[in-house]
Amino acid sequence: MTREMRIAIDGPAAAGKSTIAKLVAKKLGYTYIDTGAMYRAITYKVLQNAVDPCNEEEVAKLISRTHIELEQGNEAQRVLLDGAEVSEAIRSHEVTSQVSAIAALTSVRQLLMKKQQNLAEERSVVMDGRDIGTTVLPDAELKIFMTASVEERAQRRLLEEQLRGMKSDYVTLKREITERDKADSEREISPLKKAEDAIIIDTTGKTIEQVTNMIVEYAEKRLAR
Ligand code: DC
Repeated sequence: MTREMRIAIDGPAAAGKSTIAKLVAKKLGYTYIDTGAMYRAITYKVLQNAVDPCNEEEVAKLISRTHIELEQGNEAQRVLLDGAEVSEAIRSHEVTSQVSAIAALTSVRQLLMKKQQNLAEERSVVMDGRDIGTTVLPDAELKIFMTASVEERAQRRLLEEQLRGMKSDYVTLKREITERDKADSEREISPLKKAEDAIIIDTTGKTIEQVTNMIVEYAEKRLAR
């Protein structure tokens, strides 16, 4: 299939981006790309190798030999790091607490940005992250900035983690989300920011289906132009 459209979905942590992006991609027949999973996979590797996340030189050396693949399953997406599946491992609290520091490093961002741009070169994609509309795909045909109240985001993440069998509590999750948003918004390169031409969708109080349909409608309108 030739490339019809690139949909960029950015926003703060736990706003529902990946759940919605996956469904939008399925409805439109596009490829879903979870860029947060890539930053998480790198962070996992750094932690596994006991490299200090603040030591950019060491991190750069380690990741120059890294292979990340996102495999599209029917329901979930599998994340492969150097050939081994890490889909679950990258969602741990340890990775979540370190990922913003790793994502602030220039070498990490350069490497992943190139990978992400290559993935969107020849196919229609729905890509979610923090800097897709501003930096990775500045010419994306449709840009969405998805938000929700921090209370609702913490509540949703709690349910998600409980379903996965993780031991989580609301207060800790709310604090983690707030800290991560602050770090992601204040970093120097490609911070979390709404692109000027992005459409804001506040998902507070909206169902997954409502938000998915809204985005599909925006996409269909763009295609009909
Ligand atoms: O979407 P997520 O919560 O899985 O993302 C994990 C972290 O990765 C997030 O806190 C910041 C970083 N990230 C980023 O800096 N740029 C992106 N495009 C996607 C994620």
